[in-house]
Formats: sequence, C-alpha cells, structure tokens
Amino acid sequence: MKFTLIASLLSVTVFSQTFDANAILNGLKHGDILPSIIPSDFKPETNLGVTYVGREMNFGTEYFPFNNETDKLPEFAYNADPNTFYTLALVDPDAPSRADPFRAQVRHWLNVNIPGTQISAGNSTATPYLAPRPFVGCGRKRFVYVLAKQPSQLPNLTVPAARPGFNIADFAKNNSMTIVGANYFEVEAPPGDSCIVPGASSSGSPSPSSTAYGASPSSTKASSSSKYIPHGKCLNV
Ligand SMILES: *[C@@H]1O[C@H](CO)[C@@H](O)[C@H](O)[C@H]1NC(C)=O
Ligand SMILES: *[C@@H]1O[C@H](CO)[C@@H](O)[C@H](O)[C@H]1NC(C)=O
Ligand SMILES: *[C@@H]1O[C@H](CO)[C@@H](O)[C@H](O)[C@H]1NC(C)=O
Ligand SMILES: *[C@@H]1O[C@H](CO)[C@@H](O)[C@H](O)[C@H]1NC(C)=O
Repeated sequence: MKFTLIASLLSVTVFSQTFDANAILNGLKHGDILPSIIPSDFKPETNLGVTYVGREMNFGTEYFPFNNETDKLPEFAYNADPNTFYTLALVDPDAPSRADPFRAQVRHWLNVNIPGTQISAGNSTATPYLAPRPFVGCGRKRFVYVLAKQPSQLPNLTVPAARPGFNIADFAKNNSMTIVGANYFEVEAPPGDSCIVPGASSSGSPSPSSTAYGASPSSTKASSSSKYIPHGKCLNV
C-alpha cells in the first residue's frame, strides 16, 4: 500500500517538469518556425533540451559546423512517458538557403519508436544523422529539432527514401503523431557572393541524391550543373 502510494507520487513528480509553454511558442515564432514548419495548433508538452559541445540550445543559438560543433548528435533532455513511443527529427527548412529553399525540408535525422527517453533504443536506420554543412554563400540557416509523440509503436512506418522534399508536420500527421516539443539553432554558411549548390539542376526541383549534402566547402566549386542563387544580402535574422 505504502509503496504504491509513493510510486504514484513519484511518477507524478517525474512528469510535472515545469516548462514555460509561452516561452517555447515565442522562441519558435521569433525564428518563424511557428507556424511555417511547426503548425499553429502546436501545444508544447515538454522542453526539448538540446546540447551540442556543452552549449545548450535556446531557440536560435548559433553553432559552428566548420569547427566540428555539430558533427555528432547532441545530447537531449525532455520529459516523456516511459510507456509511450516518440519520434525525434532534425530538419533543415532552409535548404539550400533561406532565400530559396527549393530542397526543403532536408531530413537530417529521423529516429522513430523511441521508448520514452531511451533515444538509443529508437530506430534511425532509414535516416542516420547527417551533420549540417551549409554551402558557400548560402547565408544564415535554421535547423529544427522536433519531438513527436506516437500513438503506439509503429514497426511498419514508411519514411520517404529521399532526404530532400520532406515535411515533418505532414509526416507527423500521416502517422497520427502529435508534435510535443521543438527547438532550433542557426548556422552561418561560409561567405560568398552567391549560393553555390553542387549537383542542383537549374530547374530547381529537389534532387533525389543525398550525396551532395555532406559536401565540405572545398568541394562546392562551381560546375556546369550548379545552380547559382544571387541573393545580394544574407537573411541575417
Ligand atoms: C575538425 O575535425 C577534423 C577531422 O577530425 C580535423 O581535421 C579538424 O582540425 C577539426 N577542425 C576544428 C576546427 O576543430
Ligand atoms: C528499423 O527501420 C528499418 C528501415 O525503416 C527497418 O527496415 C527495420 O526493420 C527497423 N528495425 C526495427 C528493429 O524496427
Ligand atoms: C507490420 O507488417 C507485418 C508484415 O507485413 C505484419 O505482419 C504486421 O501485422 C504489421 N504490423 C502492424 C502493427 O501493422
Ligand atoms: C504524407 O502522406 C501523403 C499522402 O499519402 C504523401 O504524399 C506524403 O509523401 C506523406 N508525407 C510524408 C512526409 O510522409
């Protein structure tokens, strides 16, 4: 009897993490993540704590991919029901640039069927982590981490084969998931007068190839198939 009471009190404590829903909504609105990437009916249920190289992400924190700061998956902290399955995703809505995101969203990571907070027990086989590596001249870009609650374990989930042309809100909706947390960061592309995108066709349609996204700046030299996006000024927001 006594144990049962203590156990239930404990579980209440564990799930009553204080978080400021308005601060989350305002942080996402400030970066125009809400409502363009996360739908306007989003109701935060937890902070989505994300920490790269010991620096905690706080809605727009800048990290430096070319200093290797985003090479590996960050650490996460969020509140979850251990008996519920979750999906964690990283998407790039500004691919290749915020000025002309013709490849958006690029799926950088998708980990599904995570039991509670046991991220390593989830399945990211279909979309292993791809480190951000913005192309020369493509300006300042956002990357968005999204946490969604699944209705159940989804062993037969279909994930689109291509990383580009993804949409996290549609994916959640298609699979009856509820987005419960989000955070985002920004990175600055190496400077250049135009956004040079290797392998892009001039028609601007999403390329099915995912090989170009891991390219380093030294391999972003112009080729006859590159697409040049004159953007004059960077969207430094
Ligand atoms: C990033 O990692 C690479 C490969 O390990 C290394 O050669 C390079 O010096 C690192 N750069 C920085 C800025 O730490
Ligand atoms: C993980 O996902 C892959 C690709 O979607 C699938 O083929 C595989 O069966 C899954 N593994 C488990 C243990 O669910
Ligand atoms: C997943 O697919 C397998 C093989 O087609 C099927 O036997 C199983 O019932 C499906 N599971 C769910 C939960 O839909
Ligand atoms: C969502 O479902 C629609 C209709 O089946 C499909 O066209 C689309 O590719 C799906 N989107 C994602 C991201 O899974």
